Order: sequence, then C-alpha cells, then structure tokens
Amino acid sequence: MSAELPNVVFVLGGPGAGKGTQCAKIVEKFQYVHLSAGDLLREERNTEGSAYGELIESHIRNGTIVPVEITCSLLATAMKKSGNNKFLIDGFPRNKDNLDGWQKEMGDKTNVQFVLFFDCSQEACMERCLQRGAAGSGRSDDNEESLKKRFQTYVKDTMAIIEHYDALGLVRKIDASQSPDQVFEDVTKAFE
Ligand code: C5P
Ligand code: MG
Repeated sequence: MSAELPNVVFVLGGPGAGKGTQCAKIVEKFQYVHLSAGDLLREERNTEGSAYGELIESHIRNGTIVPVEITCSLLATAMKKSGNNKFLIDGFPRNKDNLDGWQKEMGDKTNVQFVLFFDCSQEACMERCLQRGAAGSGRSDDNEESLKKRFQTYVKDTMAIIEHYDALGLVRKIDASQSPDQVFEDVTKAFE
C-alpha cells in the first residue's frame, strides 16, 4: 500500500517565488530531502562528458522545459542515492510532458502527499531574480530576456499542472509575496 511508498511533496511557483529558500527551511524543520530539478539539470549540464549538456543549457537560457526522460531519471537516481523516504521535489512537474513522464515512471513507486504552491506576482518575482543575478547568482537565466521567457513558460505550461493537482484537492497555496520568515510560518502550517 501507499503507506510504504516514499512520500513526495512537489514544490511549484514562478521563478523567484522562493522555492529554494523555503525548501532549505523545510529540510531543517521536517527532515525532507530537497531535490531541485533545476539544480540537478545544472549539475548534469556541468558534468564533463554529459551527452545532454548543450541541450540543457539551451533550454535553461530559453526558459523552456527539458524533456522529462532526462529530468525524471536525474530525480529517480537522486532519490535512490539518498536512501530517504520523504522528498521535496522543487520545480517539477513543470509541464504536461513532465507530469506524464513522472506518472509513467514513478506514479506507482511514490505517494504524492501534496503540492506546495508559492503564489507571487510576476513583478515581485522578476525583481527578486534580477537582484539575485546582480548579486552574482552566476545563473545564465537570471537576466531580463531569459526571465520573460521563464514567466511565459510558467503561465503557459506550469499553471495547468497546478490546476491539475488543485482539481485533485492536493494543492496547498502559500502567499509568497511576504518576507521569507512570514512565508515559512504559512509553510509550517501546510506541513502540520
Ligand atoms: O527551477 P529553476 O528556476 O532552477 O529552473 C531553471 C530552468 O531549468 C528552467 O527555466 C528550465 O529551463 C529548467 N528546468 C526544466 N525542467 C524542470 C525544472 C527546470 O527544464 N522540471
Ligand atoms: Mg530553485
């Protein structure tokens, strides 16, 4: 039964909504393992000899979504390697391809507890990402041109995934425009 399957919380929200920041806090308080799809893709891109490096970088710059076969396999490998059974999967599933690929490969092997949705205006998110870029994030997509495309993808593809889970009663929505500590108060309630 599902009680024995590893538990997964998907963490979604626009670029700059605070997914990474909040995940770090959740890990500390609730002992989940944090897996960021974006971080895993950047790591794969930076791996010498990876067959996918260029493909991943071109998607990242364009704010488009890497084929799920790559992302899901990185996630599955990281899950296995961790030896844990509670995961925060951040920035995934981002589109229908991600969702379908996950269902196919992992649907029977995991239990999706809920989806944590960080809701924040595009203006606030844009501002945060530009600041992050100016402060030296080193990310090739924290610039205005890439950010516009990332928001387009978010609105066009990711919102539909949030709606999909919302229809299943699985979305816990958080007002992510507040300060990190205020947001975390609401996050804590969502986990308790
Ligand atoms: O979540 P994060 O902002 O780190 O994602 C950065 C980029 O990584 C996305 O804009 C996208 O190009 C890529 N990505 C992806 N599929 C995911 C998560 C991230 O293609 N599920
Ligand atoms: Mg992140």
